[in-house]
Amino acid sequence: PGAEKVKIGQLEAHRGSRVRVFGWVHRLRVQSQMTFITLRDGTGYLQLVLSGDLVKTLDAFDLVTECTIEVTGDLKQVPEGKTAPGGHELVADWWRMIGKAPTGVDAYASLFNEKSDLSVRQNLRHLDLRAETPAAIMKVRAAVLSAFRAVYSKHTVMEVTPPCIVQTSVEGGASLFKFNYYGQEAYLTQSSQLYLETCLPSLGDVFCVQESFRAENSHTRRHLAEYTHLEAELAFIDFKDLMDHIETMHLGQICEVVDMVLADPIAGKLVQELNPGFKAPARPFKRLDYKDAIAFLNEHDILFQDDDPAVPARPHQIGDDIAEAAERKMTDMLNVPIFLMNFPKHLKSFYMKKIEGDEEFTESVDVLMPNVGEIVGESMRSEVSIQPARKLTCTVSTGGSMRISDIDELMEGYKREGIPADPYYWFTDQRKYGTSEHGGYGLGVERFLAWLTNRWTVRECQLYGRWPGHAAP
Ligand code: 4AD
Ligand code: MG
Repeated sequence: PGAEKVKIGQLEAHRGSRVRVFGWVHRLRVQSQMTFITLRDGTGYLQLVLSGDLVKTLDAFDLVTECTIEVTGDLKQVPEGKTAPGGHELVADWWRMIGKAPTGVDAYASLFNEKSDLSVRQNLRHLDLRAETPAAIMKVRAAVLSAFRAVYSKHTVMEVTPPCIVQTSVEGGASLFKFNYYGQEAYLTQSSQLYLETCLPSLGDVFCVQESFRAENSHTRRHLAEYTHLEAELAFIDFKDLMDHIETMHLGQICEVVDMVLADPIAGKLVQELNPGFKAPARPFKRLDYKDAIAFLNEHDILFQDDDPAVPARPHQIGDDIAEAAERKMTDMLNVPIFLMNFPKHLKSFYMKKIEGDEEFTESVDVLMPNVGEIVGESMRSEVSIQPARKLTCTVSTGGSMRISDIDELMEGYKREGIPADPYYWFTDQRKYGTSEHGGYGLGVERFLAWLTNRWTVRECQLYGRWPGHAAP
Protein backbone atom coordinates (compact mmCIF):
# COMPACT_ATOMS: atom_id res chain seq x y z
CA PRO A 1 0.00 0.00 0.00
CA GLY A 2 1.28 3.42 -0.89
CA ALA A 3 4.07 1.93 -3.01
CA GLU A 4 4.12 2.61 -6.74
CA LYS A 5 4.11 -0.39 -9.12
CA VAL A 6 7.30 -0.21 -11.21
CA LYS A 7 8.98 -2.40 -13.85
CA ILE A 8 12.55 -3.33 -12.91
CA GLY A 9 13.97 -1.57 -15.97
CA GLN A 10 12.39 1.70 -14.81
CA LEU A 11 13.58 1.62 -11.20
CA GLU A 12 16.46 4.06 -11.63
CA ALA A 13 14.07 7.03 -11.29
CA HIS A 14 12.61 5.58 -8.08
CA ARG A 15 15.74 5.29 -5.97
CA GLY A 16 15.06 6.26 -2.39
CA SER A 17 11.31 5.52 -2.69
CA ARG A 18 9.11 2.69 -1.61
CA VAL A 19 8.11 0.58 -4.63
CA ARG A 20 6.15 -2.50 -5.60
CA VAL A 21 7.63 -4.97 -8.08
CA PHE A 22 6.45 -8.18 -9.71
CA GLY A 23 8.61 -10.89 -11.19
CA TRP A 24 10.11 -14.37 -11.24
CA VAL A 25 12.67 -15.56 -8.73
CA HIS A 26 15.78 -15.80 -10.85
CA ARG A 27 18.26 -16.64 -8.16
CA LEU A 28 18.07 -17.33 -4.47
CA ARG A 29 20.87 -17.09 -1.91
CA VAL A 30 19.97 -18.01 1.65
CA GLN A 31 22.17 -16.89 4.54
CA SER A 32 21.49 -17.34 8.23
CA GLN A 33 20.03 -13.87 8.83
CA MET A 34 19.34 -12.69 5.34
CA THR A 35 18.11 -13.94 2.00
CA PHE A 36 19.12 -12.41 -1.30
CA ILE A 37 16.82 -12.89 -4.27
CA THR A 38 17.49 -11.84 -7.83
CA LEU A 39 14.12 -10.96 -9.30
CA ARG A 40 13.51 -10.92 -13.05
CA ASP A 41 10.65 -9.33 -15.01
CA GLY A 42 12.04 -9.23 -18.56
CA THR A 43 12.98 -5.55 -18.31
CA GLY A 44 15.86 -6.26 -15.95
CA TYR A 45 17.18 -7.99 -12.85
CA LEU A 46 16.76 -6.67 -9.30
CA GLN A 47 18.38 -7.70 -6.04
CA LEU A 48 15.95 -8.14 -3.17
CA VAL A 49 17.13 -8.27 0.42
CA LEU A 50 14.93 -9.98 2.99
CA SER A 51 15.77 -10.18 6.66
CA GLY A 52 14.22 -10.82 10.07
CA ASP A 53 10.82 -12.52 10.16
CA LEU A 54 10.39 -12.24 6.43
CA VAL A 55 13.14 -14.85 5.92
CA LYS A 56 11.14 -17.44 7.88
CA THR A 57 8.09 -16.97 5.63
CA LEU A 58 10.09 -17.93 2.53
CA ASP A 59 10.57 -21.51 3.63
CA ALA A 60 6.99 -21.83 4.76
CA PHE A 61 5.83 -21.05 1.24
CA ASP A 62 8.50 -23.20 -0.48
CA LEU A 63 10.08 -20.31 -2.28
CA VAL A 64 12.37 -21.65 -5.03
CA THR A 65 13.65 -20.25 -8.30
CA GLU A 66 10.98 -19.52 -10.94
CA CYS A 67 8.25 -18.83 -8.38
CA THR A 68 6.34 -15.63 -9.23
CA ILE A 69 6.16 -13.08 -6.43
CA GLU A 70 5.12 -9.55 -5.60
CA VAL A 71 7.35 -7.54 -3.25
CA THR A 72 7.28 -4.11 -1.67
CA GLY A 73 10.12 -2.27 -0.01
CA ASP A 74 12.55 0.62 -0.11
CA LEU A 75 14.81 0.94 -3.13
CA LYS A 76 18.31 1.73 -1.92
CA GLN A 77 21.66 2.24 -3.52
CA VAL A 78 23.87 -0.80 -2.87
CA PRO A 79 26.40 -0.29 -0.09
CA GLU A 80 29.95 0.67 -1.09
CA GLY A 81 32.02 -2.32 -2.19
CA LYS A 82 29.00 -4.42 -3.20
CA THR A 83 27.52 -4.89 -6.64
CA ALA A 84 24.00 -5.57 -7.81
CA PRO A 85 22.23 -5.17 -11.16
CA GLY A 86 21.44 -1.50 -11.71
CA GLY A 87 23.48 -0.53 -8.64
CA HIS A 88 20.48 -0.73 -6.33
CA GLU A 89 18.63 -3.23 -4.15
CA LEU A 90 15.15 -3.48 -2.74
CA VAL A 91 14.99 -3.89 1.02
CA ALA A 92 11.76 -5.85 1.28
CA ASP A 93 9.15 -5.32 3.97
CA TRP A 94 6.37 -7.49 2.49
CA TRP A 95 5.97 -10.15 -0.17
CA ARG A 96 3.40 -12.56 -1.51
CA MET A 97 3.50 -15.72 -3.61
CA ILE A 98 1.72 -15.39 -6.97
CA GLY A 99 2.73 -18.69 -8.60
CA LYS A 100 4.58 -21.62 -7.08
CA ALA A 101 7.29 -23.60 -8.89
CA PRO A 102 8.31 -27.24 -8.49
CA THR A 103 10.82 -28.26 -5.84
CA GLY A 104 12.95 -31.43 -5.83
CA VAL A 105 13.86 -33.19 -9.07
CA ASP A 106 11.51 -31.02 -11.12
CA ALA A 107 12.97 -27.80 -9.75
CA TYR A 108 14.12 -25.41 -12.45
CA ALA A 109 17.65 -25.49 -11.11
CA SER A 110 17.80 -29.27 -11.67
CA LEU A 111 16.61 -29.22 -15.30
CA PHE A 112 19.86 -28.21 -16.98
CA ASN A 113 23.06 -26.31 -16.46
CA GLU A 114 25.86 -24.97 -18.60
CA LYS A 115 27.29 -28.46 -19.08
CA SER A 116 24.02 -30.08 -20.17
CA ASP A 117 23.77 -31.52 -23.64
CA LEU A 118 22.49 -28.87 -26.04
CA SER A 119 19.49 -31.04 -26.99
CA VAL A 120 18.27 -31.01 -23.36
CA ARG A 121 18.05 -27.24 -23.46
CA GLN A 122 16.60 -27.22 -26.98
CA ASN A 123 13.72 -29.47 -25.94
CA LEU A 124 13.14 -27.23 -22.91
CA ARG A 125 13.51 -24.02 -24.89
CA HIS A 126 10.39 -22.52 -23.24
CA LEU A 127 12.23 -22.74 -19.90
CA ASP A 128 15.72 -22.19 -21.31
CA LEU A 129 14.53 -18.76 -22.54
CA ARG A 130 14.36 -17.73 -18.87
CA ALA A 131 18.15 -18.06 -18.60
CA GLU A 132 20.32 -15.00 -19.12
CA THR A 133 22.15 -15.80 -22.33
CA PRO A 134 19.09 -16.79 -24.42
CA ALA A 135 17.21 -13.75 -23.12
CA ALA A 136 20.17 -11.48 -23.90
CA ILE A 137 20.28 -12.76 -27.50
CA MET A 138 16.54 -12.16 -27.91
CA LYS A 139 16.92 -8.61 -26.57
CA VAL A 140 19.71 -7.92 -29.05
CA ARG A 141 17.54 -9.47 -31.79
CA ALA A 142 14.71 -7.04 -31.02
CA ALA A 143 17.13 -4.10 -31.05
CA VAL A 144 18.58 -5.26 -34.41
CA LEU A 145 15.14 -5.51 -36.04
CA SER A 146 14.06 -2.10 -34.86
CA ALA A 147 17.39 -0.58 -35.92
CA PHE A 148 17.03 -2.05 -39.45
CA ARG A 149 13.51 -0.65 -39.68
CA ALA A 150 14.65 2.76 -38.47
CA VAL A 151 17.49 2.91 -40.98
CA TYR A 152 15.35 1.76 -43.95
CA SER A 153 12.70 4.27 -43.04
CA LYS A 154 15.31 7.03 -42.94
CA HIS A 155 16.41 6.03 -46.45
CA THR A 156 12.77 5.95 -47.70
CA VAL A 157 12.70 2.24 -48.37
CA MET A 158 9.17 1.16 -47.52
CA GLU A 159 8.19 -1.92 -45.52
CA VAL A 160 5.76 -4.42 -47.03
CA THR A 161 4.52 -7.79 -45.77
CA PRO A 162 4.40 -10.41 -48.56
CA PRO A 163 2.61 -13.73 -48.03
CA CYS A 164 4.18 -16.88 -46.61
CA ILE A 165 1.83 -19.14 -48.57
CA VAL A 166 2.91 -19.18 -52.22
CA GLN A 167 2.62 -21.23 -55.40
CA THR A 168 6.01 -20.46 -56.99
CA SER A 169 9.56 -21.27 -56.00
CA VAL A 170 12.38 -18.71 -55.86
CA GLU A 171 15.46 -20.71 -54.94
CA GLY A 172 14.72 -24.08 -56.58
CA GLY A 173 12.20 -26.86 -56.08
CA ALA A 174 14.52 -29.06 -54.02
CA SER A 175 14.12 -26.98 -50.86
CA LEU A 176 10.37 -26.31 -51.00
CA PHE A 177 8.01 -27.34 -48.22
CA LYS A 178 4.87 -28.41 -50.07
CA PHE A 179 1.38 -28.79 -48.66
CA ASN A 180 -2.21 -29.26 -49.66
CA TYR A 181 -3.94 -25.91 -49.97
CA TYR A 182 -7.69 -26.47 -50.47
CA GLY A 183 -6.87 -29.23 -52.92
CA GLN A 184 -4.13 -27.29 -54.72
CA GLU A 185 -0.38 -27.59 -54.23
CA ALA A 186 1.13 -24.67 -52.31
CA TYR A 187 4.46 -23.97 -50.64
CA LEU A 188 5.96 -22.09 -47.74
CA THR A 189 7.92 -19.18 -49.17
CA GLN A 190 11.71 -19.48 -49.64
CA SER A 191 12.17 -15.78 -50.25
CA SER A 192 9.86 -12.80 -50.76
CA GLN A 193 12.06 -11.40 -53.50
CA LEU A 194 9.68 -11.94 -56.42
CA TYR A 195 6.87 -10.22 -54.51
CA LEU A 196 9.17 -7.32 -53.62
CA GLU A 197 9.95 -6.96 -57.34
CA THR A 198 6.24 -6.52 -58.05
CA CYS A 199 6.11 -3.64 -55.55
CA LEU A 200 8.75 -1.50 -57.29
CA PRO A 201 6.36 0.06 -59.86
CA SER A 202 3.82 0.75 -57.14
CA LEU A 203 5.74 1.66 -54.00
CA GLY A 204 9.32 2.27 -55.12
CA ASP A 205 12.16 0.70 -53.17
CA VAL A 206 10.82 -1.78 -50.62
CA PHE A 207 11.94 -4.14 -47.90
CA CYS A 208 10.38 -6.85 -45.77
CA VAL A 209 11.10 -8.86 -42.66
CA GLN A 210 9.47 -12.19 -43.32
CA GLU A 211 9.93 -15.81 -42.35
CA SER A 212 11.50 -17.91 -45.14
CA PHE A 213 11.44 -21.70 -45.25
CA ARG A 214 13.99 -24.14 -46.64
CA ALA A 215 13.35 -27.87 -46.76
CA GLU A 216 17.02 -28.67 -47.37
CA ASN A 217 18.29 -31.40 -45.09
CA SER A 218 21.41 -29.47 -44.06
CA HIS A 219 22.53 -30.24 -40.54
CA THR A 220 25.04 -27.41 -40.31
CA ARG A 221 25.41 -24.70 -37.76
CA ARG A 222 24.14 -22.04 -40.17
CA HIS A 223 21.14 -23.76 -41.78
CA LEU A 224 17.63 -23.44 -40.46
CA ALA A 225 14.36 -24.83 -41.83
CA GLU A 226 12.62 -21.56 -40.99
CA TYR A 227 14.49 -18.29 -40.63
CA THR A 228 13.78 -14.59 -40.53
CA HIS A 229 14.66 -13.06 -43.87
CA LEU A 230 15.29 -9.37 -44.27
CA GLU A 231 15.06 -8.57 -47.98
CA ALA A 232 15.22 -5.37 -50.02
CA GLU A 233 14.63 -4.56 -53.69
CA LEU A 234 15.76 -1.42 -55.49
CA ALA A 235 14.78 0.00 -58.88
CA PHE A 236 16.90 1.80 -61.51
CA ILE A 237 20.27 0.55 -60.39
CA ASP A 238 23.10 -1.40 -62.03
CA PHE A 239 25.37 -4.03 -60.47
CA LYS A 240 27.91 -1.43 -59.35
CA ASP A 241 25.12 0.61 -57.73
CA LEU A 242 23.91 -2.56 -56.00
CA MET A 243 27.39 -3.26 -54.63
CA ASP A 244 27.81 0.34 -53.56
CA HIS A 245 24.37 0.25 -52.02
CA ILE A 246 25.15 -2.98 -50.18
CA GLU A 247 28.40 -1.50 -48.97
CA THR A 248 27.36 2.03 -48.13
CA MET A 249 23.72 1.60 -47.41
CA HIS A 250 23.04 -2.03 -46.57
CA LEU A 251 26.42 -2.62 -45.00
CA GLY A 252 26.74 1.03 -44.26
CA GLN A 253 23.36 0.28 -42.90
CA ILE A 254 24.72 -2.80 -41.21
CA CYS A 255 27.33 -0.47 -39.75
CA GLU A 256 24.60 2.03 -38.92
CA VAL A 257 22.49 -0.74 -37.40
CA VAL A 258 25.49 -2.01 -35.45
CA ASP A 259 26.20 1.54 -34.25
CA MET A 260 22.56 2.01 -33.21
CA VAL A 261 22.52 -1.29 -31.36
CA LEU A 262 25.85 -0.54 -29.65
CA ALA A 263 24.56 2.89 -28.63
CA ASP A 264 21.45 1.38 -27.06
CA PRO A 265 22.03 1.32 -23.29
CA ILE A 266 20.61 -2.19 -22.87
CA ALA A 267 21.34 -3.98 -26.17
CA GLY A 268 24.75 -2.35 -26.58
CA LYS A 269 25.88 -3.62 -23.21
CA LEU A 270 24.54 -7.09 -23.96
CA VAL A 271 26.45 -7.26 -27.26
CA GLN A 272 29.66 -6.41 -25.42
CA GLU A 273 28.95 -9.14 -22.87
CA LEU A 274 28.07 -11.73 -25.50
CA ASN A 275 30.85 -10.69 -27.86
CA PRO A 276 33.57 -8.89 -25.91
CA GLY A 277 35.64 -6.51 -27.99
CA PHE A 278 33.14 -6.40 -30.85
CA LYS A 279 33.57 -3.54 -33.30
CA ALA A 280 31.60 -2.62 -36.41
CA PRO A 281 33.39 -3.83 -39.57
CA ALA A 282 35.70 -1.40 -41.34
CA ARG A 283 34.97 -0.30 -44.89
CA PRO A 284 35.74 -0.63 -47.75
CA PHE A 285 34.95 -4.31 -48.03
CA LYS A 286 37.07 -6.55 -50.22
CA ARG A 287 35.57 -7.27 -53.65
CA LEU A 288 36.54 -10.77 -54.76
CA ASP A 289 35.57 -12.32 -58.09
CA TYR A 290 34.39 -15.94 -57.88
CA LYS A 291 37.21 -16.98 -60.28
CA ASP A 292 39.82 -15.29 -58.09
CA ALA A 293 38.33 -17.04 -55.07
CA ILE A 294 38.80 -20.41 -56.82
CA ALA A 295 42.43 -19.44 -57.53
CA PHE A 296 42.90 -18.37 -53.89
CA LEU A 297 41.56 -21.70 -52.61
CA ASN A 298 43.95 -23.60 -54.88
CA GLU A 299 46.95 -21.44 -53.96
CA HIS A 300 46.25 -22.23 -50.31
CA ASP A 301 45.62 -25.95 -50.82
CA ILE A 302 42.01 -25.74 -49.72
CA LEU A 303 40.47 -28.70 -51.52
CA PHE A 304 37.07 -29.38 -53.04
CA GLN A 305 35.26 -32.16 -51.22
CA ASP A 306 32.42 -33.90 -53.03
CA ASP A 307 29.14 -34.48 -51.15
CA ASP A 308 30.03 -38.16 -51.32
CA PRO A 309 32.89 -38.54 -48.80
CA ALA A 310 34.15 -41.63 -50.69
CA VAL A 311 35.19 -39.38 -53.59
CA PRO A 312 38.73 -38.11 -52.86
CA ALA A 313 39.19 -34.38 -52.34
CA ARG A 314 40.68 -32.50 -55.30
CA PRO A 315 41.67 -28.95 -56.21
CA HIS A 316 38.79 -26.57 -56.98
CA GLN A 317 37.73 -26.01 -60.58
CA ILE A 318 35.85 -23.09 -62.10
CA GLY A 319 32.19 -24.02 -61.79
CA ASP A 320 32.48 -25.70 -58.36
CA ASP A 321 30.25 -24.59 -55.55
CA ILE A 322 32.43 -23.28 -52.72
CA ALA A 323 31.50 -25.34 -49.68
CA GLU A 324 30.93 -23.91 -46.24
CA ALA A 325 34.22 -25.14 -44.77
CA ALA A 326 36.29 -23.80 -47.67
CA GLU A 327 34.42 -20.50 -47.57
CA ARG A 328 35.04 -20.18 -43.85
CA LYS A 329 38.76 -20.92 -44.19
CA MET A 330 39.13 -18.36 -46.95
CA THR A 331 37.19 -15.70 -45.03
CA ASP A 332 39.23 -16.29 -41.91
CA MET A 333 42.49 -16.11 -43.86
CA LEU A 334 41.54 -12.87 -45.59
CA ASN A 335 40.09 -11.62 -42.31
CA VAL A 336 38.09 -8.75 -43.81
CA PRO A 337 34.45 -8.59 -44.87
CA ILE A 338 34.24 -9.86 -48.45
CA PHE A 339 31.94 -9.37 -51.40
CA LEU A 340 32.21 -12.65 -53.26
CA MET A 341 30.91 -11.77 -56.73
CA ASN A 342 29.94 -13.18 -60.13
CA PHE A 343 28.95 -16.78 -59.40
CA PRO A 344 28.49 -19.27 -62.26
CA LYS A 345 24.96 -19.22 -63.62
CA HIS A 346 24.35 -22.94 -62.96
CA LEU A 347 24.88 -22.42 -59.20
CA LYS A 348 22.29 -19.66 -59.06
CA SER A 349 18.59 -19.10 -59.60
CA PHE A 350 16.66 -18.48 -62.84
CA TYR A 351 16.09 -14.76 -62.15
CA MET A 352 19.74 -13.70 -62.03
CA LYS A 353 21.15 -11.35 -64.61
CA LYS A 354 24.08 -12.69 -66.62
CA ILE A 355 27.27 -10.73 -67.09
CA GLU A 356 27.40 -9.15 -70.54
CA GLY A 357 30.16 -10.81 -72.54
CA ASP A 358 30.69 -13.51 -69.90
CA GLU A 359 27.30 -15.20 -70.04
CA GLU A 360 28.19 -18.25 -67.94
CA PHE A 361 28.46 -15.98 -64.91
CA THR A 362 25.95 -13.79 -63.07
CA GLU A 363 25.80 -10.36 -61.46
CA SER A 364 25.51 -11.89 -58.02
CA VAL A 365 27.14 -11.31 -54.67
CA ASP A 366 27.48 -13.03 -51.30
CA VAL A 367 28.72 -11.11 -48.28
CA LEU A 368 31.13 -13.10 -46.09
CA MET A 369 31.83 -11.82 -42.61
CA PRO A 370 35.00 -12.92 -40.82
CA ASN A 371 35.21 -13.82 -37.16
CA VAL A 372 35.05 -10.89 -34.84
CA GLY A 373 35.70 -10.35 -31.19
CA GLU A 374 38.00 -12.23 -28.89
CA ILE A 375 37.68 -15.59 -27.26
CA VAL A 376 37.03 -15.05 -23.60
CA GLY A 377 37.27 -17.83 -21.07
CA GLU A 378 35.12 -18.85 -18.14
CA SER A 379 36.51 -16.06 -16.01
CA MET A 380 34.45 -13.48 -17.87
CA ARG A 381 31.47 -12.70 -15.70
CA SER A 382 28.91 -9.99 -15.96
CA GLU A 383 26.44 -9.12 -13.28
CA VAL A 384 23.96 -11.63 -14.66
CA SER A 385 26.54 -14.11 -16.01
CA ILE A 386 25.97 -14.00 -19.73
CA GLN A 387 27.97 -16.71 -21.43
CA PRO A 388 30.21 -15.74 -24.33
CA ALA A 389 30.18 -18.31 -27.13
CA ARG A 390 32.38 -21.38 -26.83
CA LYS A 391 33.71 -20.76 -30.29
CA LEU A 392 33.57 -18.11 -32.92
CA THR A 393 31.34 -18.22 -35.91
CA CYS A 394 31.65 -17.00 -39.46
CA THR A 395 28.70 -16.62 -41.74
CA VAL A 396 27.34 -15.64 -45.12
CA SER A 397 25.21 -12.76 -44.00
CA THR A 398 23.73 -11.57 -47.26
CA GLY A 399 23.07 -12.83 -50.78
CA GLY A 400 22.06 -10.52 -53.59
CA SER A 401 22.01 -10.00 -57.34
CA MET A 402 20.81 -8.01 -60.27
CA ARG A 403 17.65 -9.47 -61.73
CA ILE A 404 16.82 -10.20 -65.35
CA SER A 405 14.95 -7.21 -66.74
CA ASP A 406 14.42 -8.46 -70.30
CA ILE A 407 11.34 -10.59 -70.89
CA ASP A 408 12.91 -12.90 -73.50
CA GLU A 409 15.86 -13.58 -71.25
CA LEU A 410 13.46 -14.36 -68.40
CA MET A 411 11.53 -16.85 -70.56
CA GLU A 412 14.88 -18.51 -71.39
CA GLY A 413 15.69 -18.60 -67.68
CA TYR A 414 12.50 -20.52 -66.88
CA LYS A 415 13.26 -22.94 -69.68
CA ARG A 416 16.88 -23.50 -68.66
CA GLU A 417 15.82 -24.33 -65.10
CA GLY A 418 12.89 -26.48 -66.24
CA ILE A 419 10.39 -24.21 -64.49
CA PRO A 420 6.86 -24.01 -65.93
CA ALA A 421 6.25 -20.33 -66.70
CA ASP A 422 2.48 -20.29 -66.13
CA PRO A 423 2.40 -19.99 -62.33
CA TYR A 424 4.83 -17.07 -62.68
CA TYR A 425 2.47 -15.00 -64.88
CA TRP A 426 2.38 -12.24 -62.28
CA PHE A 427 6.16 -12.11 -62.13
CA THR A 428 6.54 -12.22 -65.92
CA ASP A 429 4.11 -9.29 -66.16
CA GLN A 430 6.66 -7.13 -64.36
CA ARG A 431 8.94 -7.51 -67.39
CA LYS A 432 6.00 -6.84 -69.73
CA TYR A 433 4.47 -3.74 -68.15
CA GLY A 434 7.36 -1.29 -68.00
CA THR A 435 10.50 -3.14 -66.94
CA SER A 436 13.47 -1.61 -65.12
CA GLU A 437 17.01 -2.52 -64.26
CA HIS A 438 16.79 -3.58 -60.63
CA GLY A 439 18.35 -5.74 -57.97
CA GLY A 440 18.24 -6.61 -54.32
CA TYR A 441 19.46 -8.81 -51.54
CA GLY A 442 18.41 -10.93 -48.61
CA LEU A 443 19.96 -11.16 -45.18
CA GLY A 444 19.43 -14.06 -42.81
CA VAL A 445 18.68 -12.34 -39.52
CA GLU A 446 19.92 -15.30 -37.47
CA ARG A 447 23.23 -15.39 -39.35
CA PHE A 448 23.64 -11.68 -38.79
CA LEU A 449 22.88 -12.16 -35.09
CA ALA A 450 25.23 -15.13 -34.74
CA TRP A 451 27.93 -12.88 -36.15
CA LEU A 452 27.01 -9.90 -33.96
CA THR A 453 26.64 -11.87 -30.74
CA ASN A 454 29.38 -14.38 -31.56
CA ARG A 455 27.33 -17.57 -31.36
CA TRP A 456 28.44 -21.03 -32.35
CA THR A 457 25.25 -21.65 -34.33
CA VAL A 458 22.31 -19.73 -35.79
CA ARG A 459 20.09 -22.09 -33.78
CA GLU A 460 20.77 -19.98 -30.69
CA CYS A 461 19.48 -16.87 -32.43
CA GLN A 462 15.84 -17.86 -32.98
CA LEU A 463 13.11 -17.57 -30.37
CA TYR A 464 12.10 -21.16 -31.07
CA GLY A 465 14.58 -22.92 -33.33
CA ARG A 466 13.47 -24.68 -36.48
CA TRP A 467 16.00 -26.94 -38.14
CA PRO A 468 15.82 -30.35 -39.84
CA GLY A 469 13.92 -32.74 -37.60
CA HIS A 470 13.24 -30.16 -34.89
CA ALA A 471 9.93 -28.31 -34.59
CA ALA A 472 9.06 -28.45 -30.87
CA PRO A 473 8.52 -26.62 -28.67
O1 4AD B 1 21.20 -16.76 -50.70
P1 4AD B 1 19.74 -16.88 -50.52
O2 4AD B 1 19.14 -18.23 -50.77
O3 4AD B 1 19.09 -15.79 -51.48
C1 4AD B 1 17.75 -15.57 -51.64
O4 4AD B 1 16.85 -16.18 -51.12
C2 4AD B 1 17.46 -14.34 -52.46
N1 4AD B 1 16.17 -14.55 -53.13
C3 4AD B 1 17.45 -13.16 -51.55
C4 4AD B 1 17.23 -11.87 -52.28
O5 4AD B 1 18.04 -11.51 -53.10
N2 4AD B 1 16.15 -11.18 -51.97
O6 4AD B 1 19.34 -16.42 -49.07
C5 4AD B 1 19.64 -15.11 -48.64
C6 4AD B 1 20.20 -15.12 -47.23
C7 4AD B 1 21.54 -15.84 -47.11
O7 4AD B 1 22.61 -14.96 -47.38
C8 4AD B 1 21.54 -16.26 -45.65
O8 4AD B 1 21.91 -15.18 -44.82
C9 4AD B 1 20.09 -16.57 -45.41
O9 4AD B 1 19.33 -15.87 -46.38
N3 4AD B 1 19.78 -18.00 -45.51
C10 4AD B 1 19.60 -18.82 -44.47
N4 4AD B 1 19.67 -18.62 -43.14
C11 4AD B 1 19.43 -19.68 -42.33
N5 4AD B 1 19.13 -20.91 -42.77
C12 4AD B 1 19.04 -21.17 -44.11
N6 4AD B 1 18.72 -22.40 -44.53
C13 4AD B 1 19.30 -20.10 -45.01
N7 4AD B 1 19.32 -19.99 -46.36
C14 4AD B 1 19.61 -18.72 -46.64
MG1 MG C 1 21.69 -19.60 -51.36
